[in-house]
Amino acid sequence: MTITLGTIALDNPVFLAPMSGITDMAFRRIARRLGAGLVVSEMVVGQELLSGSREGLRRVQYADDEAPVAIQLAGNEANSLGEAARLAQDLGAQIIDINMGCPAKKVCNGYAGSALMRELGLAARLIAATVAAVSVPVTLKMRLGWDDASRNAPELARIAADLGVAMITVHGRTRCQFYKGEADWSAVAAVRDAVDLPLVVNGDIASADDAREALIRSGADAVMVGRACQGRPWLPGQIARGLSGEAPEDEPDLPTRRSIALEHFEAMIDHHGVELGVRCFRKHFAWYVEGLSNEKTARARINSQTDPDEVRQAVAEAFDEARELAEAA
Ligand SMILES: Cc1cc2nc3c(=O)[nH]c(=O)nc-3n(C[C@H](O)[C@H](O)[C@H](O)COP(=O)(O)O)c2cc1C
Repeated sequence: MTITLGTIALDNPVFLAPMSGITDMAFRRIARRLGAGLVVSEMVVGQELLSGSREGLRRVQYADDEAPVAIQLAGNEANSLGEAARLAQDLGAQIIDINMGCPAKKVCNGYAGSALMRELGLAARLIAATVAAVSVPVTLKMRLGWDDASRNAPELARIAADLGVAMITVHGRTRCQFYKGEADWSAVAAVRDAVDLPLVVNGDIASADDAREALIRSGADAVMVGRACQGRPWLPGQIARGLSGEAPEDEPDLPTRRSIALEHFEAMIDHHGVELGVRCFRKHFAWYVEGLSNEKTARARINSQTDPDEVRQAVAEAFDEARELAEAA
């Protein structure tokens, strides 16, 4: 089934999850080029965007090649969330996603993110204001509920559907679980029973087999993949091909990973500038080289570099050396 949001038909049902500090424009472009059906921006706090903060504006930046562009907003005040949604739309967002799933104390203490699952009246006002403010589709990301005693995702989903939300994503954990335990894909089925909208299941999906199982247990139409994509922007594309019946794929070979890591570095320099780009790339590089025999030395080398040419060389040599070591073994 092709998922359609308004007039936008998505390429496939495997989406890259929004991850603050990770899925910036650089990462999203690569994931999309490598086959993700949809990519979503890092969360932007509505008021931060409206204040014109540099970081807020950076987070809504996008590239044409990642379209359709989904910008994720968080907030707890209906007027400003609506205004922020309109601004994001004016800046090019083709989809607005509302975050009601973030468990972070900093966000929840301001009654945003998953704290809204305890305030369904406020959640409804926020959704209504956002839907009224824009002409593009509005989607919603949530958890199963605040805690085990209040798994109210179906209720919030029903409210959202009545207010005109176009798609719902559910991370199969409660807020109080943070990231502990296992995502409960079967629990997402209660949301399936509650609404007829396109439904996305999220949490602990790391392979086509996981995706298949999560879809069966939840009855969802699509999957969203987060942490398993760290250092693996090709993963959503691989899972999508697996779901469409293609043979299971190996991880890309070392020369391919080398060229993706280098492409990622260039995109980060473009997006963040040299100083921040070099610094922020280090964590991605650590994920790219995870499991290589020269992982430790490669990471130590990158972490001491500030010159982008030195970084380029260190990235290339890390993968070349890993290949030589593998061939010699
Ligand atoms: C570092 C990090 C940052 C995240 N940032 C966001 C965010 O900005 N917005 C959001 O809705 N979820 C955010 N999440 C949650 C993910 O989108 C996803 O729901 C969660 O990681 C579960 O999926 P996974 O098991 O595939 O990682 C973040 C998760 C991580 C690990």
